[in-house]
Amino acid sequence: MDISSLRNEYKHSALSMHSVHKNPVQQFESWLDDAIDSEIQEPTAMAVSTVGKSGFPQSRIVLLKYLDNNGFVFFTNFESQKGKALGANPATGLLFFWPELERQVRVEGIAEKTSRDFAEKYFRSRPVSSQIGAWASEQSQTIPSRSYLEDRFSEFSLKYKNQTPPLPDFWGGYRVKPIKIEFWQGRESRLHDRILYEKIENDWKIQRLAP
Ligand SMILES: Cc1cc2nc3c(=O)[nH]c(=O)nc-3n(C[C@H](O)[C@H](O)[C@H](O)COP(=O)(O)O)c2cc1C
Repeated sequence: MDISSLRNEYKHSALSMHSVHKNPVQQFESWLDDAIDSEIQEPTAMAVSTVGKSGFPQSRIVLLKYLDNNGFVFFTNFESQKGKALGANPATGLLFFWPELERQVRVEGIAEKTSRDFAEKYFRSRPVSSQIGAWASEQSQTIPSRSYLEDRFSEFSLKYKNQTPPLPDFWGGYRVKPIKIEFWQGRESRLHDRILYEKIENDWKIQRLAP
């Protein structure tokens, strides 16, 4: 298949310096609402990029679970590849792509762990099988087989049969505090709209970028 000839014209909507919110978090919430309303399958999915000790950027999809003026929160295993990378270097990139809306949002920020209470509240809200799954999975480690993982799941299911699984020490949330947020809206003839918010002390400077 000749993929070089695949292309779309983007006509869905437009973005201007005057139409956007002064606060990028409010702007993001409004776009996230649009994404949820448009019934995209995973509207909260985002690529999280880290640069750990290897110096190579590493990206993976995780789900955004909370958002406020303090940042974008996701949950994971602190001993995973991303957890180790963030321990060495908290600089983080986040990327949302909502193709149905012809939109992309790019975030640069600094990740820090959420409080344990905050993580615990979210952990408790998950199905018990997911709580057991967090215990069973030594995330990002090499394992000998699928059955090794399933056996661990059975062991922890048995262990916590009559009690609520506790929050593992190695599991919790990261909050990415943004310093830059860029909104991209596809437009015709590749003249896309790009609006960048940059944090300068306590204010957000808003600029238009060439596509
Ligand atoms: C749609 C989707 C949602 C995901 N959500 C999460 C998540 O919220 N937390 C998480 O740790 N991994 C999530 N994953 C798995 C990650 O992409 C990744 O495989 C895992 O976190 C290990 O990454 P690492 O080895 O780079 O640390 C998700 C994957 C997909 C495709």
